[in-house]
Amino acid sequence: MNDTFLKACRGEKTDYTPIWMMRQAGRYLPEYQKIRGNVTFLELCKSPDLCVEVTLQPVDLLGMDAAILFSDILVLMEAMGAPLEFHEGRGPIFKEPIRNQAALDALMIPDADEATAFVMETIRLLRRELKVPLIGFAGAPFTCATYLIEGGSSKVFWETKKMMFTEPLLFHRLMDKITESTILYLKAQARAGAQALQLFDSWAGVLAPCDFSNFALPYVQKIFAALQGYEIPLIYFANNGATLLDLSVSSGADVIGLDWRINIGEAIKKVGKRAVQGNLDPFALLLPKDQLRQRIGDLLDGAKNAHGHIFNLGHGIHQFTPPEQAKIAVDAVHELSSR
Ligand code: CP3
Repeated sequence: MNDTFLKACRGEKTDYTPIWMMRQAGRYLPEYQKIRGNVTFLELCKSPDLCVEVTLQPVDLLGMDAAILFSDILVLMEAMGAPLEFHEGRGPIFKEPIRNQAALDALMIPDADEATAFVMETIRLLRRELKVPLIGFAGAPFTCATYLIEGGSSKVFWETKKMMFTEPLLFHRLMDKITESTILYLKAQARAGAQALQLFDSWAGVLAPCDFSNFALPYVQKIFAALQGYEIPLIYFANNGATLLDLSVSSGADVIGLDWRINIGEAIKKVGKRAVQGNLDPFALLLPKDQLRQRIGDLLDGAKNAHGHIFNLGHGIHQFTPPEQAKIAVDAVHELSSR
């Protein structure tokens, strides 16, 4: 068992800096495309055998130091009773957005072992195969709420902010329900065998710090507080979150995920005795080999005072990234950080 990733999460000394990449299982891999060619995305998410296969692909092909469960943050929203569709090229769609009390009342707090049995089965199967740690995950409540309220992806978040500012009680009740569901969901993942848990807050960065404090952070804190007993590393990734970093350190996470917009050395000064995860610009993977290695060397150097560093991208790997470039990055991290 290669436990370098877990050691780095705990701030312990490691022989080298571990690496994994957000969205490492996905469309940039021809091996993923091949499986995805026969099934829809949601069918894939609900087929444990196929989920196991695509989870293992980046670990086996590229040498990642951790695996992330293949699933999607919105699978839990569907289990709560919000019908979910994925349209090619348009991303997720909720045809019945949650914008009033009646719609909110219709959402359930599901028993995760039943409603998302396929996720727990995937985790159990993966633990038999894997020689690196398995990361489970969920969306952070604010990010999940934006999809439910907007009915899909958004650029300006009009409906979300309208609810926050004109019907704050309704917004908080929705956040409460997502939070309760997420706690049960992540506890079930931990029981099934997840060895670390990450909350993805992809849209936290659209909030002013005061609104993040009031409308988003308390729910992240509640989730992480509920997971303390499991003694597995908890990771919080707030995309576009540099302006929220001072607040994010109070989330209760052991590891703070960083997007690429912040200098890693500056971030480390702020996070104190916590590990950091990040933060190469995903598009920097397109650099010519020598420059990519140089850039990775600089990043590793910038993180040398970290209380644990897990190398990652600053957000998910882009679907048109050549897998060979990802492999160059993995090898460079291992080689340049070996001590
Ligand atoms: O490898 C991994 O990281 C594990 C799998 C994973 C997926 N989605 C698979 C996926 C994880 C961790 C996610 C998280 C997720 N899903 C987030 C948070 C992270 C982030 O990127 O900010 C969000 C916001 C979602 C919601 C979602 N799922 C969107 C907006 C989309 C469409 C985007 C796109 O690129 O088309 C998805 C689809 C999705 N989730 C794909 C994959 C591999 C592409 C599906 C396909 O095969 O067509």
